[in-house]
Amino acid sequence: MDGAITSPDFRCSLCGELFEVEYPGWVERKGHDRPNPGALKWLWRERRCSAEALDHSGVWRFREMLPILDNFGTAVTLREGNTPLYHLPRAAKALGIDQLFAKHQGMNPTGSFKDTGMTTALSVAKERGFQWVACASTGNTSAAMAAYAARAGLRSLVLIPDGKIAWGKLSQAMDYGAVTCQIKTDFDGCVRVLTQVVKEAHIYLLNSVNPYRLEGQKTPAFEIAEAFDWNVPDHLIVPGGNLANSSALGKGFREMRELGLVARVPRISVIQAAGANPLVRSLADNHGATMEPVEAHTRATAIRIGNPASWRKAARVIQDTGGWCLDVSEAEIAIAKAELGSEGLGCEPASAVTLAGLKKLRARGSVSPGETVVLVLTGHTLKDADYTIDFHRGMLLKEEEKAGNEERIESLRRDAVVVEATAEAVLARIKGNVG
Ligand code: F0G
Repeated sequence: MDGAITSPDFRCSLCGELFEVEYPGWVERKGHDRPNPGALKWLWRERRCSAEALDHSGVWRFREMLPILDNFGTAVTLREGNTPLYHLPRAAKALGIDQLFAKHQGMNPTGSFKDTGMTTALSVAKERGFQWVACASTGNTSAAMAAYAARAGLRSLVLIPDGKIAWGKLSQAMDYGAVTCQIKTDFDGCVRVLTQVVKEAHIYLLNSVNPYRLEGQKTPAFEIAEAFDWNVPDHLIVPGGNLANSSALGKGFREMRELGLVARVPRISVIQAAGANPLVRSLADNHGATMEPVEAHTRATAIRIGNPASWRKAARVIQDTGGWCLDVSEAEIAIAKAELGSEGLGCEPASAVTLAGLKKLRARGSVSPGETVVLVLTGHTLKDADYTIDFHRGMLLKEEEKAGNEERIESLRRDAVVVEATAEAVLARIKGNVG
């Protein structure tokens, strides 16, 4: 890992590949020298009742799996993690599977899963004495980074693609005091510019190429295993953008198995938007040997990414766990999002690809009725309220995008109506909907 400390873009100067945090000796350690799985499980559960601020974090209560700081007292936390795992009985019934759950990472302090990785990587930045941190982002990373930097008293620089992120996310970066630059390019262009910036200035890069981000983002795997009493679910389904999250969750499950905390790992499948699907293409074309970047187009702006940095790591996770990688259309995303909403679980469009992907996997027989499936919902519904309102007003999708799904879409739409200020007028509105 020493190279990662000196390399501002966290890439190996010889092969260009991304670094990964490894804990030498975990696997080789035997007997008394090896962490005791039973004791760890007890300790992590106990911490939920502790009075210590660090123990209230659903990331740092697993700190035995995160030996990345010299002093845990420097950790910057907003009580991230410990997110809910919801049962989805209606979607399960519709799909003909017994057990379907949503791990809602949108319930983190800034409304996305990015908080779990930001608490770890920003704590490293603080411990190493950086004054400035920076990221290129489709919105959620910048919101999380700006918040954690503000808590730590560091300055933050955000590069976002001009006009291509949801307003909720932009408003967060502004509110938390980041220097926010709307760059006249897409996300991949922002990454290019920022890579140059961090080579020329003493700024700590907090994009997901930073391996300490992935350390925090692996902890929902521990929470999921704990919630199932350390019998892991059969299948985990994750959205794919820059492809760090799927990589991190795969690492979390792998490390748990290596340490004897769980007996097996779930299949991990990654779902991309059809307009931003470079990994789907790579795996289909050449089994992940190479990846051709694409020009990305999707209304799920969080995953509008054509040249994902962590594609090799994610491809390995999919292949090692026996998962799948597929893509879903704009209409499939919108329908899945409305279906999750109608179960009382809002999420942002990028998160809804998981349900859309599961439907496809089920339809082709890749998921059987007895399997336990967990969808990872990555962002809060209020991040992108415009998308939701456009859908319900019937203004989101073009006619050709709806083709074949018109009836389903109409059945899910709930437009808001303007009504006279009388009880009769309101009662007239519900008449047709009673029953
Ligand atoms: N879901 C949401 C809500 C996201 O914000 C992102 C990524 C993803 C899924 C995809 O995760 O990149 O690890 O594969 N958002 C980044 C950002 C890129 O800048 O906020 P990934």
